[in-house]
Amino acid sequence: MAVATDMIVPAFPKAGIPRHPVERLTVKLKAKRRETPDTMSFAFDVVDGSLRQYPGQAVSLDLPMPQGTVTRTFTVASAPNLTNWFELTIKAAPDGYATRWMQDALAVGDEITGRGAFGTFSIISHPNTPLLLIGGGSGFTPMMSTLRWLSERSEAADVVLIQAARSKQDLLFQEELDQIATQMPTLKLFNVLSAPKKGEAWSGYRGRPDRAMIRAMVPDAHRRLTLCCGPVGFMDHMGKVLRAEGLDRARFLTESFGHKMALSQDVIPPIKGDGITVSIGAQTYDVAPDVPLSASLAAVGKRIPTGCGEGQCGTCRVRLLEGEVEMNHQGGLSQQEQDQGYILACCTRPKTAIKIGM
Ligand SMILES: Cc1cc2nc3c(=O)[nH]c(=O)nc-3n(C[C@H](O)[C@H](O)[C@H](O)COP(=O)(O)OP(=O)(O)OC[C@H]3O[C@@H](n4cnc5c(N)ncnc54)[C@H](O)[C@@H]3O)c2cc1C
Ligand code: FES
Repeated sequence: MAVATDMIVPAFPKAGIPRHPVERLTVKLKAKRRETPDTMSFAFDVVDGSLRQYPGQAVSLDLPMPQGTVTRTFTVASAPNLTNWFELTIKAAPDGYATRWMQDALAVGDEITGRGAFGTFSIISHPNTPLLLIGGGSGFTPMMSTLRWLSERSEAADVVLIQAARSKQDLLFQEELDQIATQMPTLKLFNVLSAPKKGEAWSGYRGRPDRAMIRAMVPDAHRRLTLCCGPVGFMDHMGKVLRAEGLDRARFLTESFGHKMALSQDVIPPIKGDGITVSIGAQTYDVAPDVPLSASLAAVGKRIPTGCGEGQCGTCRVRLLEGEVEMNHQGGLSQQEQDQGYILACCTRPKTAIKIGM
């Protein structure tokens, strides 16, 4: 257990989300715990660096997989009260090789590097606001961090928490949530199952939360600051339901766990002959100029994993093999990495035809 001298209990700031510098970290896996059939929690000690964070923020980890090191981003699920310890809760994505490797191969005692904390999906600049927290699948982690933080601060916050999962066995943190609810009478907890298993006893809500369910669970949804995280289709659906219930668009905050760039496909106009050629291995793509590389590639169907989307976390690191680019990052690359030719695709615009390695 981390020592009390490293305890930070961030207070609500007066305005905006204050920025801590994103620090480079060396972390050591202290414990692994299975939560559901496809999800595990990973507790890390920070052995070098200091993790200063707010609820809902994320870290990135460099994962030394046999095929080469890849970087992935995860929201801290524990309360952001310690600078030398944190916990992540990670679902092995069905087609995910990095998360599967973490569950199968990352061992207690292993040391890896990372960066953190970053992100703006946080209640930190919304004090004394009634909250509606909605998490679907692994998108429940920012809600858990927020709730653990409020609970550890003994905040009598007015919170409605909705967890959406496929079946009962996929629900996260049930015992702990019940325990928090006994100490926090202003907390209301709901679970909604999209596909309860045959023979599974379930008398609660089923399907996707619709207007009738929302009215039953949260009759005053329109006045709550709402944080929603989960698959993109789920967040879109919840946004529509809540807007129909009178929630102002500006009070509906979302976090995407991997489809940030999918939006770009809608906003980047199709190329009409004056694109820039990007070669990746044997493939070539004609992409829009003057658009960050990760967005322009996503628009033509090539995904590069991203985390912060603003040059801090290093998740979108690729190697520039040929050509010229303009890059404007915010500490997501070390000087050594830059000297080795790495660039961050979320904050790099190609100036000429380029060739990159992933
Ligand atoms: C801010 C943030 C917080 C997150 N927090 C959590 C968390 O708490 N728990 C959790 O389980 N997961 C979380 N994720 C998702 C996680 O980082 C992985 O992206 C996800 O689990 C995919 O699994 P993988 O890395 O094993 O997939 P991989 O097999 O490594 O990748 C699968 C495919 O998806 C693409 N891909 C992977 N990541 C992204 C991405 N970010 N953007 C676009 N394409 C991508 C890859 O190119 C590949 O084609 C978070 C993501 C973000 C951006
Ligand atoms: S996505 Fe974080 S640095 Fe590019």
